[in-house]
Amino acid sequence: MSRLPAVARTLPALRRALDALRTRRATIALVPTMGALHDGHLALVRQARRRASKVVVSIFVNPTQFAPHEDFGSYPRTWKADMEKLAAERADLVWNPGVDIMYPPNFATRILPEGPATANLEDRFRPHFFGGVATVVGKLFTQCRPDIAVFGQKDYQQLKVVTRMAADLDLGVKVIGVPTVRERDGLAMSSRNVYLSSDQRAVAPILHRTMKDAAKRLRNGDDLKTVMADGARTIEHAGFALDYFEARHAETLAPIPSITDGPIRLLVAAKIGTTRLIDNIGV
Ligand code: PAJ
Repeated sequence: MSRLPAVARTLPALRRALDALRTRRATIALVPTMGALHDGHLALVRQARRRASKVVVSIFVNPTQFAPHEDFGSYPRTWKADMEKLAAERADLVWNPGVDIMYPPNFATRILPEGPATANLEDRFRPHFFGGVATVVGKLFTQCRPDIAVFGQKDYQQLKVVTRMAADLDLGVKVIGVPTVRERDGLAMSSRNVYLSSDQRAVAPILHRTMKDAAKRLRNGDDLKTVMADGARTIEHAGFALDYFEARHAETLAPIPSITDGPIRLLVAAKIGTTRLIDNIGV
């Protein structure tokens, strides 16, 4: 068995551990996560391993990005399995602060991202979300001072928000995006997939299949509006409550009037039962 990574749970412990890693011109990569690690997270850790000499993984279920009605309390927490997976990937350090360390009493500052964070996609349905993400990721960056940080394209709007924030606030962190890791049937891996019943799990791959079909039709020159309306109907007929299925500019996330205004990214969010799934692909 591989050796478990070091764990820091307080800021002084983090500082000491980072000082130990930073010797001899080491470069540091940070992989922010909320734990419940799966192969998607591990692909980020592998990318971090390739690009930097030391890999820090944060595991922190961030309360400020959950609305009161969302699943903060029940979000899967699988510490022991997470540590074994990170040991196998040779992560160097796990930053696992408690809520009281990240948000001490009287904490009163919030980063409010604009631009990609107000694209009218996730922000329309989770208005609190990107403020919470930007605040915690901003803190993780200043706490860990990594050279690079690795995020998944699975959360495409989040990747754009974090990239913009790192540049806008001169955080000196290069943000890298890693392609979405999928199950064999196309379903994007997600910590929330454990919420799906077996019937729901069976229809969940429709999201990816519909996006793939739509992308193919768009590449063949089919009418954008028709393709998107057909896709939305397919997803709803499969039993999803659709939040959005949209074609956006892959960089700015702006709505695009026609296929020639690309590069295009298709983005979807839909609920099956009480579980909300998101996914996206390039055209
Ligand atoms: P979490 O959902 O745990 O995801 C952590 C990172 O893993 C994110 O960058 C996410 O995009 C990436 N990821 C998740 N599933 C993936 C998949 N199937 N393939 C590739 N990458 C995948 O996203 C968050 O946590 C939080 O918002 C966080 C950034 C940690 C801030 O709290």
